[in-house]
Amino acid sequence: MDRIRPGVRIEADAHVHPSVVLGPEAYVGHGAVISEGCRIGERTKVWHYANVLHHCDVGADSMVGAYVQLDPEVVIGRRVRIQPHTIVSTANVGDDAYIGPHVIIANMPYPPGKRFVRAIIEEGVIIAMSAILLPGVRIGKRAVIGAGAVVTKDVPAEALVFGNPARVHSTRQDYDRRQAEWEKGIGSTAAEKSRRA
Ligand SMILES: CC(C)(COP(=O)(O)OP(=O)(O)OC[C@H]1O[C@@H](n2cnc3c(N)ncnc32)[C@H](O)[C@@H]1OP(=O)(O)O)[C@@H](O)C(=O)NCCC(=O)NCCS
Repeated sequence: MDRIRPGVRIEADAHVHPSVVLGPEAYVGHGAVISEGCRIGERTKVWHYANVLHHCDVGADSMVGAYVQLDPEVVIGRRVRIQPHTIVSTANVGDDAYIGPHVIIANMPYPPGKRFVRAIIEEGVIIAMSAILLPGVRIGKRAVIGAGAVVTKDVPAEALVFGNPARVHSTRQDYDRRQAEWEKGIGSTAAEKSRRA
């Protein structure tokens, strides 16, 4: 069904507050909830059972995966992909970021409490699956956070970090080179190297 702007599609069992502004060709999947005062950019997809709490702003051409939670006043840039089951508490996420599945971006340093702090994820950052960002960290432009990392401190731009606590192991340039090689069928992951050892 079309609603609000041309080409918008909202599944019949989704709940979109009447105050929500949906850009042209936005999509809201089955069971998704979008609360008061949110703005969803053009062509952005909010997949099934996502829960977007009040006054979030999601830019154009982005993707909010199934079962994702965006806490109140989260700001998401353009062309951002957020994979399923991720929780984004108070945070700003820059353009072109990729956030993998089961990531937690936290906002409360000493729970239970009332004082929250905002994480800043700059442009082009990659956060791999199941990483945990402790409240208020700043992830510099194009940094890479490895799978399962526990990020306790700010991460410099262009760094690749992993581990608990996360430490710098490499660079984004190295990651990009290895990704390009991998896509061409050359290069190998740590798992593959272990089989040859
Ligand atoms: C960052 C990443 C790409 C590095 O993987 P990789 O290229 O296979 O790893 P490397 O070959 O550089 O590994 C070097 C060393 O670090 C270790 N290591 C690699 N990734 C690690 C991680 N996330 N946490 C802890 N240690 C890690 C390896 O075991 C290896 O250890 P060794 O020196 O004792 O042999 C990978 O950890 C990652 O996060 N991938 C993204 C997966 C993902 O989220 N996909 C999307 C959802 S499907």
